[in-house]
Amino acid sequence: MKILFYARGEEGQQWLDALRQTLPHAEICQWGSMADQQWQADYALVWNAPSALFESQQRLKGIVNLGAGVDKLLANPALPNAVPVYKLRDAGMASWMTDYVRYGVSHVARDMDRYRTQQAASCWQPFAIEPKADWSIGILGLGAIGSEVAQALRSDGYPVLGWSRNQKDIPDIESYAGEVELDTLLAKCRVLVNILPATSNTRGLLNAQRLQQLPQGAMVISCGRGEVIDEPALLELCVSGHLRGALLDVFAEEPLPVNNPLWNHPSVIVTPHISAPTPIEGATRQIGELLQQLEEGVVIETVDRLRGY
Ligand code: GLV
Repeated sequence: MKILFYARGEEGQQWLDALRQTLPHAEICQWGSMADQQWQADYALVWNAPSALFESQQRLKGIVNLGAGVDKLLANPALPNAVPVYKLRDAGMASWMTDYVRYGVSHVARDMDRYRTQQAASCWQPFAIEPKADWSIGILGLGAIGSEVAQALRSDGYPVLGWSRNQKDIPDIESYAGEVELDTLLAKCRVLVNILPATSNTRGLLNAQRLQQLPQGAMVISCGRGEVIDEPALLELCVSGHLRGALLDVFAEEPLPVNNPLWNHPSVIVTPHISAPTPIEGATRQIGELLQQLEEGVVIETVDRLRGY
């Protein structure tokens, strides 16, 4: 089996070592360092691959996206139509993302934002802890990662409301679906967590009018894709004080441009898309299993290009 690997901005050598260990019988080449430029692979394992990679390959049986979000891959004009695309479902990303969301929830539920402000004035003033039952959390996106995050927060004791394209049945999670029900959910949650992918249905979904449905003092955590949120509207609601704050890991444009005012608002925390990197070990194990199943002819769910995930 011949495998072509490319991951822009990632630890290439670490990936290659892990892949070679997991797939000892495969011939694995990294794009850009192939001795023979005509070399044709059976599978491409890619993250943010250049168009030239796909243009050079005529024999691919499958393309594996080395992450959960496939938006960049599907937007690549050279992505061959006839080759099935697979994505990593959850190779350990859900656990990272759960930590990130828990941090954001604690930031407001345990008043860390207020204590930071008080510290600047050397002010020693404790606040009573509100019961977790009073902190309803809305999770948008209940895929492999979102549903695990939702269940973890529920088991922490928070009421969790989930929203997805189709109604999901997850124990103890209030499930909402469709745009009308989104408004109902928004009005109920004190913390809103965006774990949605960027698709034609989700881009701009959290516009000014929807963000305003959130109760006064709500917090927004965004770690799916930035295009889902109208960023100027979000900032406006932070400035007006309608929103208590935002913890943002993903943005419509990344890296977030230096002149973007989100950098400077005191109630906004910006992180550089680090909430859930793909763990190499979990990912290579999953890739090994996936490729073996494909070689055996097992039918594996592919990315639905029209749906966008
Ligand atoms: C990260 O953003 C991913 O899509 O896995």
